[in-house]
Amino acid sequence: MHENTAIAHPNIAFIKYWGNRDNDLRLPSNGSISMSLGALETRTTVTLESNLTSDELVLDGSSQSGVALERVSTFLDIIRSASGKHKFAHIVSENSFPQSAGIASSASAFAALALAASRAFDLDLTERELSILARRGSGSAARSIPAGFAEWHMGSSSDDSFAEAIAPPDHWPLWDCIALVEDQPKKVGSTQGHQLAGTSPLQSARLQDATRRLDLCREAILKKDFAKLADVIELDSNMMHAVMLTSQPPLMYWSPLSIEIMRQVTIWRAGGLEAAYTLDAGPNVHIICTAEARQSVSDRLSEIQGVMDVIISPVGGGVFLTTR
Ligand code: PMV
Repeated sequence: MHENTAIAHPNIAFIKYWGNRDNDLRLPSNGSISMSLGALETRTTVTLESNLTSDELVLDGSSQSGVALERVSTFLDIIRSASGKHKFAHIVSENSFPQSAGIASSASAFAALALAASRAFDLDLTERELSILARRGSGSAARSIPAGFAEWHMGSSSDDSFAEAIAPPDHWPLWDCIALVEDQPKKVGSTQGHQLAGTSPLQSARLQDATRRLDLCREAILKKDFAKLADVIELDSNMMHAVMLTSQPPLMYWSPLSIEIMRQVTIWRAGGLEAAYTLDAGPNVHIICTAEARQSVSDRLSEIQGVMDVIISPVGGGVFLTTR
């Protein structure tokens, strides 16, 4: 028996990835920048067993079949083909955060699986190769391989579309305060959503301006300039949601409460609190803030009627192997 366990954190994008230029290879239409969320994790164990006749997946204690298992099996096929070993795997994966919390787990899931499975198949991949591999499972998983603040380069082919750290976790002690607004799984998943991005007349304008936003965001992180970071984070989130809202069919991920929280955050910032909002493909609002603002942000969020919970996370590390 050959057992390998890896732990990875989800990440929150400051500059979002929305739309692929190659859906199969998950080659993005634009580069993106994110922060690792150290308080949350996915722990995945991969065991190769010679008596198995197909892959098996147990997710948060329940055995999976259908689409979830197929997605993982297709991902393992890439590793099987690279290693030349055609064995099936038993995979046990657990999230430290409830799936019902509506926090995307595919980034940490495929980052942990990329490391645990590549080791199980005796592949010794570099960080860059792991990021490329994780990307094939879920685009944002490429950014859950490096530690701290990561940039995923769109690249010119599969071999140079990977994420790397632009600053380590201790560079800037930012926090993500996640306001849980809904606990239902998202109506349209991101794999499907990416395929609709090109149907929006706003996507080309969003892509044309991407390098400028990436530069602004990278510079704000390196200089620890919160005011500049706040502006570009909110602009980028709004631009992605503008594309979602204007695609065919339109995707509306915001709920009335999401909008109310966004409005409040801009008022708080105008009053001097270092906080900025960003939303992924769902109604929960991520409030990125400085260490000084964290307590106040989380208290204020808890007071807003309808907010079900507030999860807070500091900047986290990269994927790693573990024996526990
Ligand atoms: O990795 P995916 O296919 O789940 O796409 C992630 C898409 C967003 O979360 C909306 C944006 C991002 O860059 O993380």
